[in-house]
Amino acid sequence: MTLRNRIEVMHGVNLDQLGRRDPEHYGGLSFTELERQVSEMGAELDLETRFFQSNHEGEFVEHLHRLEGLADGIVLNPGAWTHYSYAIRDALELTGLPSVEVHLSDIESREPWRRQSVIGELCVARVSGQGVGGYREALERLKAELQG
Ligand code: DQA
Repeated sequence: MTLRNRIEVMHGVNLDQLGRRDPEHYGGLSFTELERQVSEMGAELDLETRFFQSNHEGEFVEHLHRLEGLADGIVLNPGAWTHYSYAIRDALELTGLPSVEVHLSDIESREPWRRQSVIGELCVARVSGQGVGGYREALERLKAELQG
């Protein structure tokens, strides 16, 4: 059996501004530091992580289009796109890859419009409100899904 351990970690709009965003919801971590920590978590779990971030919806969609044969699973935090981008939802669906949705903040306990996720039904799990630590859980869930 081939090892399925290639994880694409994808961040959407405004996530690159972490460190400048409300620390009450997002903590004080910079985006570079977040990616570094997630990469370390992946290595601890014997997962190969690759990272992508964009503030442009079309680029995010096209990156999903290009994943065929390059990734076994996806961890994604699309930021505000989570709540309304059917374009990202459809592109995620066509990857056919197991995916886990992550949010640093607890999207259930903030403004009502954040409670809606248009990608949720496509994902094997959602981790929300656990800060950067939530990415470890997301990677673990994905690993269990990929390797049983
Ligand atoms: C977020 C939650 C979204 O509602 C918000 O628009 C973000 C970040 C999070 O990680 O908590 O940009 O996805």
